[in-house]
Amino acid sequence: MPVTVVVGAQWGDEGKAKVIDLLSKEHVYVVRYQGGHNAGHTVVVDGERYALQLVPSGILYDHVIPVIANGVVVDLPTLFEEIDGLESRGITCRRLQVSSRAHLIFPWHQAHDAIAEAMRGDDKIGTTLKGIGPAYADKARRVGVRAGDVLNRDRFRELVRERAVAENTLIEEAGGEAIDVDEVVDRFDQLGQRLAPYVVDTVGLLHDAVDAGDHLLLEGAQATFLDLDHGTYPYVTSSNPTAGGASSGTGLGPRLIDRVVGITKAYTTRVGAGPFPTELLDEDGDRLVDVGREFGTVTGRRRRAGWLDCVMLRHAVRLNSLTELSLTKLDVLDGFEQVQICTGYRIDGVEVDGYPDRSDLLARVEPVYETVAGWETSLSSAREPGELPNEARRFIEIVEREVGIPVRVVGVGAERDDYLVWAS
Ligand code: GDP
Ligand code: IMO
Ligand code: MG
Repeated sequence: MPVTVVVGAQWGDEGKAKVIDLLSKEHVYVVRYQGGHNAGHTVVVDGERYALQLVPSGILYDHVIPVIANGVVVDLPTLFEEIDGLESRGITCRRLQVSSRAHLIFPWHQAHDAIAEAMRGDDKIGTTLKGIGPAYADKARRVGVRAGDVLNRDRFRELVRERAVAENTLIEEAGGEAIDVDEVVDRFDQLGQRLAPYVVDTVGLLHDAVDAGDHLLLEGAQATFLDLDHGTYPYVTSSNPTAGGASSGTGLGPRLIDRVVGITKAYTTRVGAGPFPTELLDEDGDRLVDVGREFGTVTGRRRRAGWLDCVMLRHAVRLNSLTELSLTKLDVLDGFEQVQICTGYRIDGVEVDGYPDRSDLLARVEPVYETVAGWETSLSSAREPGELPNEARRFIEIVEREVGIPVRVVGVGAERDDYLVWAS
């Protein structure tokens, strides 16, 4: 198994980091391939909570080499805040490798993110305001500044100055506040100097690792339905979290990837705007949010919540070539008298074939539910499939039947060891 991809199968926050932490035991490299500090990846070890935004979730293991690959957009203030925070807690980040090809985020990206959201009036995307979309836009229009540019200090200062002056014109035209060019040049000069020792050709590094027989774990941020091409556009992020993005975001060709793990909660959440067929606006929804502690790791926003949607998951299998699922947060359903699983969609009473390709259609679908009896007990101490109540086993079996791939890991709590391996 040289290369495994872990990808969110819903709208993010599925518990990817916990599964990555678990899989890190058998991998040498853990590699972020897209997104930026819009991600909030939580690992809980002995009551200690680590909320990671840019540093790969494998960092908590000494044997892991964490890599930020070319597809990521890197916010240097956040990166070093995160490194300092981890080091103050005894986690060394010296092994971190950052791709020379990764694009950098600057304050003008955050300014443009805020302006774009304000201009949308009542139709906001609900972005994290971290500058992700504008940074990828600059990459696409070929004016981005990359991590490798810091290696030529004078040229880097010039590039930052050029970009800051050009962007200030646009920001002021849009009614925003101009950026202090000298301050930004000096601050990013310092940050660039600090970044320099971490910068490498990660494409060569990762291929050499594959050739040496090392196992690589590619860590997706965001998720399938936030994918720029395949998500619920325009309510998406600006990168490709789907498994294909792991290939372009690392430079590892698709034939090297032989395992693709989709992560799904036992229900669904979404933060930000956009269609959400199984959303619950009643007490059950409030209960999922309260019990599941569904508040954003990065922005603190309350997440929207609803029942598990197997139509989405079937589409996620197709888009990512998923080989297996990890089903997290099953314990959050403890004590529900009954739970629902969406097995199909209807529009105007007519069953829909496949996943709608247009957001306006998705906004109109009525979910078809299968009702499953709940379980009265707490799942948190279950460590073997045989320790699960029959109703919980039935729930997992329905997911496997509806989605068509096996569930391998089941999450029953936030702690590192709160999971069981399910062998159907
Ligand atoms: P990610 O972005 O996909 O890595 O997920 P987040 O870290 O944003 O959100 C997942 C939340 O659920 C975190 O607070 C985790 O500690 C927590 N979590 C992960 N797996 C489980 C589980 O099986 N049960 C419970 N109760 N919490 C979990
Ligand atoms: P992890 O990796 C959940 C959402 C935002 C918004 C949309 C676009 O922790 O699962 P952006 O700032 O990326 O331009 O915002 O995407 N979003 C996430 N939602 N989890 C995330 O990351 C997210 N990253 C971005 O809320 O709707
Ligand atoms: Mg998250």
